[in-house]
Amino acid sequence: MKHSYRPKYHASVPAGWCNDPNGTVWYQGKAHLFFQHYPYKAQWGTMHWGHFVSEDLIRWRTLPVALRPEEDYERICGCCSGSAIEKDGKLWLLYTAAQPTLQRQCLAVSEDGGLTFRKDPANPILTAEMLSDEVSPLDFRDPRLFEKDGTYYFVAGIRLLAPAERERAAALSHMDLGLGEQRSPSAGSLSGGDEENPGFGNLILCRSRDLKRWEYVGHLLEPQPELPPEFYALHGVYECPDYFELDGYEVLLSSPQNLPQMGRDYQNLHSGLYMLGKLDFESGRFRVDTVGELDRGADFYAAQTMKLPDGRIVLLAWKEMWDRSYPTQAEGWAGTYTLPRELRVADGRLLQRPVRELEAYRSAPVTLDRLRVDGEAAVEGVSGSVLELRCRLRPGAAARAGLKLFCGQQHETLLYVDRAAGELVLDRSHSGVPLKGREKDVQIRRCALEHPEELELELFLDVSSLEVFVDGGRSVMTANLFPDPEDLGIHFFSEGGAAEFTEIRKYDLMA
Ligand code: FRU
Repeated sequence: MKHSYRPKYHASVPAGWCNDPNGTVWYQGKAHLFFQHYPYKAQWGTMHWGHFVSEDLIRWRTLPVALRPEEDYERICGCCSGSAIEKDGKLWLLYTAAQPTLQRQCLAVSEDGGLTFRKDPANPILTAEMLSDEVSPLDFRDPRLFEKDGTYYFVAGIRLLAPAERERAAALSHMDLGLGEQRSPSAGSLSGGDEENPGFGNLILCRSRDLKRWEYVGHLLEPQPELPPEFYALHGVYECPDYFELDGYEVLLSSPQNLPQMGRDYQNLHSGLYMLGKLDFESGRFRVDTVGELDRGADFYAAQTMKLPDGRIVLLAWKEMWDRSYPTQAEGWAGTYTLPRELRVADGRLLQRPVRELEAYRSAPVTLDRLRVDGEAAVEGVSGSVLELRCRLRPGAAARAGLKLFCGQQHETLLYVDRAAGELVLDRSHSGVPLKGREKDVQIRRCALEHPEELELELFLDVSSLEVFVDGGRSVMTANLFPDPEDLGIHFFSEGGAAEFTEIRKYDLMA
């Protein structure tokens, strides 16, 4: 059989293109994962909503396309991101109908268990003008629904307009900019990343009794001590937000475009954030207590969550990044999703762990209690490219210590502790097919470690990607890589001294 980069236990688009997860919801006994989808080519095009369902969050079945861009108001950019909610037993979707210079919200409903959707005759049901003149009609997208105390709310990404900018934004929104043109596949996410658009990125809160008539509450972010000024001067949109309560905390997720790198934070062109704090449901303001990066790797965007019947909140993200090369395009598809991750908040910090359902897919365990390495070593039975590998690592006197993964004659992917820098480094410079992107460096990602003298690692290899959970999910690093099929070697290594690996556990994984 011809080799494919398709993952074995991560969701991936069957054919064509996918980006953001949409409408992630547990409904009528199943997890639904809708997604931004272009079925006809492995590149971004007028957006449809694809649809997966799963009973266990690991094995996903593809259902027919849920939304097609067939209405006039969906011309050009299509049915862009949004969310789902159950009301009166039906499944409702609120999504953005986007045109190059106009973004409006639309409603669709399913009365057959989430299989087919009817678009509301009053679509688009909501425009920026109906809310407030501080919301730019050019950038108003990705509404995330939730319910609290009998009221429906959504948070959405916008450009916030100062009074002087309002006329210009209104004029631009009526211009026929670029109509008839498809957005180029590598142009980055939807408009808003460009500097000509008036206003700066922010988020809004709206409320409704019936999902149809919406009232503006206000914008979320105001200058405050916990947020550096870059967060208010964002040349882009806080795309794909989400809001939920967990472990006594309020959590706001978002994906800001073009957030500049600050130290070791935000090394990708576009980022994935969580903010812990407090949302004022009367003013819409969000007081930020903590800001953290959801993933310190290279390929992670547009995270969304769903609440399971047992109360767990599970996060899924697009396991890719805009403005990159996508080697799987040569196979006629592009786009994968992260493992579903259970969330918890502890000590003012968001923790992520792969869902426990994945344990049912383990086989062929190999265990070793202790391995001292001075140089390089392999462990019998520990090799492959579709597996879970766990260990504790004490770098000891070594300057660098860690793992070489997906090793072959010419390739290796490095994951190691750099003692002097106090970092965990993921280096895909020699992984296989070279990758391109707009960042200064798309090959190496660095994650600051609180305790570089000892760390716990949980690695998930899946043909063409690596997800690394550090210290019980206090940090996560995710990256795609494209080795040869025979690059199956795994080596434990140290440089400049001996290191110790303990509690090594390997399991093969297959969905
Ligand atoms: C984020 C995004 C969303 C938009 C969608 C379009 O990746 O740009 O803001 O709704 O993708 O596909």
